[in-house]
Amino acid sequence: MSFVKMSEKVFWIGKVDDRKVPFHRLILERGTTYNSYLLLTDKPTVIDTVDLMYGKEYMDNLTKLIDPEEIQYIVINHVEPDHAGALPALAAKAKNAKIVSTELGATILKDMFKLHHREFITIADGDTLDIGGEVLKFFETPYLHTEETMITYSMEEGVLFPCDLFSTHIAAFDLFNDLVEEADYLEDFKVYYNLIMSPHRPYIRDMLNKIKDLDIKAIAPSHGYILRKDPGKFINIYDEMSRLNPSDKKVVIAYSTMTGNTTKIAQQISEGLKTAGVESEIINLKNADLEEVKAKILESDGLLVGSSTKYGDMVGTVEELLKSLKDANVKGKLAAAFGSYGWSGEAIMYVEDYLNEAGFKVINQKYMIAGQGMDTLLLPLRIKFAKDEGLELANTAGRIFGEQILVNS
Ligand code: FEO
Repeated sequence: MSFVKMSEKVFWIGKVDDRKVPFHRLILERGTTYNSYLLLTDKPTVIDTVDLMYGKEYMDNLTKLIDPEEIQYIVINHVEPDHAGALPALAAKAKNAKIVSTELGATILKDMFKLHHREFITIADGDTLDIGGEVLKFFETPYLHTEETMITYSMEEGVLFPCDLFSTHIAAFDLFNDLVEEADYLEDFKVYYNLIMSPHRPYIRDMLNKIKDLDIKAIAPSHGYILRKDPGKFINIYDEMSRLNPSDKKVVIAYSTMTGNTTKIAQQISEGLKTAGVESEIINLKNADLEEVKAKILESDGLLVGSSTKYGDMVGTVEELLKSLKDANVKGKLAAAFGSYGWSGEAIMYVEDYLNEAGFKVINQKYMIAGQGMDTLLLPLRIKFAKDEGLELANTAGRIFGEQILVNS
């Protein structure tokens, strides 16, 4: 299937990939699609491309529809290689096209594909672009699911092109959701949300707010079915799944401090957890009964352990508590280390070593990159002195930890 006419102006020009597709160390058993679209207007415009490995096939198919030199704009909503991968092949032939993306997207694309010589149009939230017989409106959607992302709405056609959002990993040969039974894809649609989008819940809420007044007749995502039957239903599913339903999850934040800075960090982490809908109990280990603290930890869904650093080591009774957890049944429970420091901050690393040794699933950079593909690398949280910007980071780290608690529940 080389292209499919969706309307007078809009064509699907993507690729159905029915292999078992490797993805974030998982295998997509039902394959996927890379949906790319051509808007055949007075200023022909391509929205997103296909995976890196299908660049030649993509260009061969596209050339059946249009002389690439007629293409005026290439909109890149998201720079990951399953959507921007064929951009070098397309840009090489579409010599007259300007590339449209967010500012950060442009920076990444230029560096990634050596496109410094190309003209870019960088959009800000709410910007429009007249493509001759159609107007595109763009919304920045940062962290959905990477920092540079945006979505595109065609104002005349009423089609939303949200790239990864509202996607399903499925080799959708039928292409349109009204041509298949809903039961064939609805569960996969929700699994996709949980896997890719749910860690970014607050940003989903922002995105829903931005699109709430649009007249959306169809959602044309970049993976899986084009949702032209009942698109509102799928927006409602995202709305429901991203609502903050205060959970019954509880996290313990246990720490020792020298000057009070680690207390401030603990408080901000607790606030961040609350934003994610997770309650916490803050325990200053000074004068605390360690057996009681241990019992609370065992009953909790997650643990954050903090220490300031003195002479390159942990302070107070943090180490005693961590040693007592070595033989406890904490396997798989989420944990992370945090603390303030003035010079070196080694204590936070030692705390993390103990957490690993005890069998906790430790949230740190490796966990976030490998498990979530995230680049918000705040944990373990080492904050110099606990000034305002550091406390803001602590709040964000608390929220991220809380979201991981919810995802892992
Ligand atoms: Fe479908 Fe974030 O790539």
